[in-house]
Amino acid sequence: MSSETKKEPWARHKKLEKNVALLGVCAFAVVTVGGIVEIAPLFWIDNTIEKVEGMRPYTPLEQAGRDIYVREGCYVCHSQMIRPFRDEVERYGHYSLAAESMYDHPFQWGSKRTGPDLARVGLKYSDEWHVQHLKDPRAVVPESVMPPYAFLAERELNPGDMGAKLTALYRVGVPYTATDIKQANDDLKSQADPMADSADLQKRYPKTQVRDFDGQPDKLTEMDALIAYLQVLGTMVDVNAPAAQEVLAKEKGR
Ligand code: HEC
Repeated sequence: MSSETKKEPWARHKKLEKNVALLGVCAFAVVTVGGIVEIAPLFWIDNTIEKVEGMRPYTPLEQAGRDIYVREGCYVCHSQMIRPFRDEVERYGHYSLAAESMYDHPFQWGSKRTGPDLARVGLKYSDEWHVQHLKDPRAVVPESVMPPYAFLAERELNPGDMGAKLTALYRVGVPYTATDIKQANDDLKSQADPMADSADLQKRYPKTQVRDFDGQPDKLTEMDALIAYLQVLGTMVDVNAPAAQEVLAKEKGR
């Protein structure tokens, strides 16, 4: 039976299979169309990160602590990204969501884990534990190779103009309000002062932990800021709440 009498539906495809140049041109056309369909929409949307309930910008004190974290190079030994693998999730908790580092400039995901991941270290230990551990890691974890940072408890916190800092972050997309920026230096102090009226701070930064962090209520030190930062890590989003679950379900369906 000749192909003319049978009229196979794939007869024309055979032509393509036998002609390398034609196949190349057609494959290129298909990949181009597919690529445009995938990539072009990204030029018209502002953000690819799903919004998650609970995410807020860092308070000025947390932000100052984060700057100390970066200054001291903690990221050299600690990552802040829990990957969705069983061993990581069982050790560190729920895997990190994209939204959880959306206000980090620069992000602290890291790629080196000499020490454990810190993405969800917030509220895992007491402030006293952190003070002890940062002053002398081997006093609490005898086999630790982490260097001591006792000097942080001596050094007065002096982050400069927090308003200017917040303005810079605002310019790269962190949604600080005009009030946040204006009151940044006062907010910084009142978060570490249990006697201060923190209602306004709590309203602008929900669930902020307000207390003296370093065990020296009469001093505002770099230790205060660093511990305020460590204690908020991974605590903003309630990953088991329905809102977060909805996002996770969507992520899974992708
Ligand atoms: C030379 C590597 C190194 C550097 C630099 C380092 N760490 Fe660590 N860190 C470790 C190791 C190792 C551990 C695990 C043993 C321990 O708990 O001390 C650890 C543990 C921790 C823990 C406890 C984590 C947990 O879940 O048990 C915290 C919190 C921490 N480090 C914070 C910091 C901070 C903040 C800095 C910067 C000021 C820092 N580390 C710098 C190596 C390092």
